[in-house]
Amino acid sequence: MKRMTRAERLTMVHGTVTGIVTEPGYAGSVAGVPRLCIPPLHLADGPGGVGDLISGVTQLPAPVALAATWDPGLARRYGAVVGAEARGKGIGVALAPTVNIVRDPRWGRAFESLGEDPYLTSTIATPVIEGIQSQRVIAQVKHLAAYNQETNRDTAADDAIVDERALREIYLPAFDAAVHRAHVGSVMCAYSTVNGVPACANQVLLTDVLKREWRFPGFVTSDWYADLPGTSAAAAGLDMQMPDNCMFGPALDAAITAGRVSGARLDDMVRRILTVMFATGIVDHPSRGTIGDDVRTAAHRTLAREVAAEGTVLLRNEHALLPFDPTRVRSIAVVGAAGADSFHVGGGSATVLSNEVVSPLQGIQERAGASVRVTSSLGTDPGRAAALAASADVAVVMVGRADAESHDHTALDLDRAANRLVDAVAAANPNTVVVLDTGSAVVTPWLDRVGAVLEAWYPGQEDGHALAAVLFGDVNPSGKLPVTFPASLADVPAATAAQWPGTTGNGVAYSEGLQVGYRGYDARDVTPQFAFGSGLSYTTFAFRRLQVTRSTSTGRVKVGVDVTNTGGRAGADVVQLYVGYPSSAGEPPRQLRAFRRIRLAPGHRARVNLQLDASALSHWDSRRRRSTASAGDYEIFVGDASNHLPVHATTRLTRTRPGTRAPSPSAPPAAAGGDASDRQRCPADGAFAMANGVLSTPVTP
Ligand code: BGC
Repeated sequence: MKRMTRAERLTMVHGTVTGIVTEPGYAGSVAGVPRLCIPPLHLADGPGGVGDLISGVTQLPAPVALAATWDPGLARRYGAVVGAEARGKGIGVALAPTVNIVRDPRWGRAFESLGEDPYLTSTIATPVIEGIQSQRVIAQVKHLAAYNQETNRDTAADDAIVDERALREIYLPAFDAAVHRAHVGSVMCAYSTVNGVPACANQVLLTDVLKREWRFPGFVTSDWYADLPGTSAAAAGLDMQMPDNCMFGPALDAAITAGRVSGARLDDMVRRILTVMFATGIVDHPSRGTIGDDVRTAAHRTLAREVAAEGTVLLRNEHALLPFDPTRVRSIAVVGAAGADSFHVGGGSATVLSNEVVSPLQGIQERAGASVRVTSSLGTDPGRAAALAASADVAVVMVGRADAESHDHTALDLDRAANRLVDAVAAANPNTVVVLDTGSAVVTPWLDRVGAVLEAWYPGQEDGHALAAVLFGDVNPSGKLPVTFPASLADVPAATAAQWPGTTGNGVAYSEGLQVGYRGYDARDVTPQFAFGSGLSYTTFAFRRLQVTRSTSTGRVKVGVDVTNTGGRAGADVVQLYVGYPSSAGEPPRQLRAFRRIRLAPGHRARVNLQLDASALSHWDSRRRRSTASAGDYEIFVGDASNHLPVHATTRLTRTRPGTRAPSPSAPPAAAGGDASDRQRCPADGAFAMANGVLSTPVTP
């Protein structure tokens, strides 16, 4: 740094792009300093593999499918594939993972998130980040914070009016885990405005919480073309502007000269970026990869298939229709557009290309072999599809819904044609399996009329292989829902217009507070169609002998439980532990605080030990501005779904235990330096979204 000129320092804190890019290429780049051997730093999407229309990469299942595996080991391998392919392409920063909470299943980017629960999101995001960074690539966890909708995004109308307790307990924990547990190198701030201050110029979020309280040593990058209030963003804690220099660059230079932003702040920005680059190995071991290199491998493909299969959730299975019995299933009708050209990837910056997608039809044909007759129809004519289904032993109807960045859904329904198709096929053949390819929850009006339902999410390029493995029972479906599927839109916790997507002049009222996802259904006693954490299996499990012990010195709680595979097949189950708090804590009825995925042979039993540290019993005390564990009885529920918790026990905390103290309330961002009036004319994110529109529907090259 000593040898860097001010111009070089200024160049290090912004992207090199001019105008709006739509060609395949890095999403952004920072120029290197060749005379000091500092290489350029390339940034690219995204959470489900290498995005940005770059080819020669593996199209992994969407992150929501990874979350549905509830398997941190798979998440670590998933992250390592993202990292390895990014590095192979010369990318220094992978813009991943997306850890925003699914506050509402209408969110267009729900597919690239890890679901509605902060603990599940943290537990999956941590190994993803470790996996990425194990490949000498910096992970950039995104988007800090309270970025939960596309409607009005990057405008003042998308102003999350959210209290500190909800931020601390629901929207920030995954970022906290990324910093403290995964040691993430960088953070992307969000398009959203939080309590009146744009997230990327929000001193409370970027400096007070992230950098001071959490001691985050890395750098914060703006979301692309985020509408920022001038150089005050730098003073508030933003370290790098992307993808161009419209906000920093000459304006920041002038602000420093005029004393509105300190030179020390610029040095801090540069130090943070360089430190992470050195620590990750980008300077000592620069990637030799280029954007044109083919970085796919057989191992990456295998991982893609494994995640797709393990993340598939069995939602219904009447009369054990699945797995297909080879002695009885001699013919299969595969119906629906998704059968041939499935909804295998979401849209927007998280889109990952592939030219080797295995369609469901291909996968089923391959697995069924020559002795089974496989017929197919795109399903555009429900009558024809029904006739085809009637002439087969079983019908597989593939229906989906396209999620994409820049758009929210207004409802939870599949389109009318898809629902009509399911109805027609189910009426023709009771042995109908519906396969959903959706990014989040949808409603299933035909549920009682179909034999089986699988949620396959956006399964990526190994779609057909993974689906066939589940249909034929080579893989026991062990995925569990990372989001609640409501019975109707009226039941979602953010059901009013004031809550979603907000009303003019009032922002978005996060008035449901902590009651997000299953917390909200439990609190209001609303029965969802499919509960968070649920998912059927081809085998069955029993839970017995729960034992709970709490160490009075450390506050740690140890929980042991016997899990037995009581069915006839090998399979995995996810042992889930939910805590119920004493009423004085004011918490939702039950919250996920630990889980373990366990594979058992039929008839086998295992003792599963889980541990809760003291923070698992804490809540955010808004008055004292710190976390606290209230004295009282804590209920420990264990089972394999948020609505199936067959064993429980109580542990008592005899006195209230204080947690860490938050820094005192901070000064308003405008007072922190910089200038809100020096904003430059930047291309609006709206224009970027339009340019990005080529990506906003699933791409099948
Ligand atoms: C998205 C980010 C993404 C960036 C770069 C933005 O539209 O919100 O998640 O990383 O574009 O493509």
